[in-house]
Amino acid sequence: MKVTVVGAGAVGASCAEYIAIKDFASEVVILDIKEGFAEGKAMDLMQTASLNNFDTKIVGTTNDYSKTAGSDVCVITSGIPRKPGMTREELIGINAGIVKMVSASLIEHSPNTIIIVVSNPMDTMTYLVHKTTGLPKNRIIGMGGALDSARFKYRLAEALGAPISDVDGMVIGGHSDKGMVPLIYKAARNSVKVSEFLSAERMEQVVQDTKVGGATLTGLLGTSAWYAPGAAVSAMVQAIACDTKKIFPCSALLEGEYGLNDLSIGVPCVLGANGIEKIVEISLSDAEKAKLVESAEGVKKTNQLLEVPAN
Ligand code: LAC
Repeated sequence: MKVTVVGAGAVGASCAEYIAIKDFASEVVILDIKEGFAEGKAMDLMQTASLNNFDTKIVGTTNDYSKTAGSDVCVITSGIPRKPGMTREELIGINAGIVKMVSASLIEHSPNTIIIVVSNPMDTMTYLVHKTTGLPKNRIIGMGGALDSARFKYRLAEALGAPISDVDGMVIGGHSDKGMVPLIYKAARNSVKVSEFLSAERMEQVVQDTKVGGATLTGLLGTSAWYAPGAAVSAMVQAIACDTKKIFPCSALLEGEYGLNDLSIGVPCVLGANGIEKIVEISLSDAEKAKLVESAEGVKKTNQLLEVPAN
């Protein structure tokens, strides 16, 4: 298993680090446009190998895509991150050009790769990769729901006073402050619905805190978060590498599922060696359905800002 991570910024480096620490990949290539940066991050990470007990080889390169050749999975984190007060949607102009160029270069050297898109606005960037590369839809996956669900579980555990391992919950919909749909009425503590423990007001607070999870961190850190995004990507890469068939909410191209068409948005997906092996259609309440439809409208509005070939 060879993995490429494009972008040696905080998210890309965290992702490479978590993949290495889990020790399931033979090689991780980190690529960045900034001279020497990816080489430096790779060398620093390699010097943790004897301390953290991994054998994964980490290689850094300044924009030499030939080093990425034969990658099974490529992760795109490149582009500019948001600053405090910015929405993910505001990044579209710069990031669309970067993501288009990066995905084409990756596929040139790894025609059989699975691509995981992290760059924001993520659902729209994932749709752009679908529209511009012609890869089969199971091999283009947007990372958002895995991260948003991890943040949801953190907030649920906090509200319940429970350990995070006791909590389960999922966030579907667009990866945006307004578009996320935390499925609070399906969330559970050790198989008991959280609505048995929390008031409606407290549940609504959990939902709101989850939706602004990224923005809260951007306010505190002055830039976009990296540990949880890196961990979320590495968990998805592991599911693909180890063919686990685990379910993650991913931004997937929908063709009628959930009554939606011609967009990428977060829905539960089975991840395995073939990437998205199945889009799982769970039953939603009328309120949940309405929120997903509203979220899809928001994503489509952002997609309209793209210059992509029509169907
Ligand atoms: C976040 C970025 C990765 O939510 O979108 O932190």
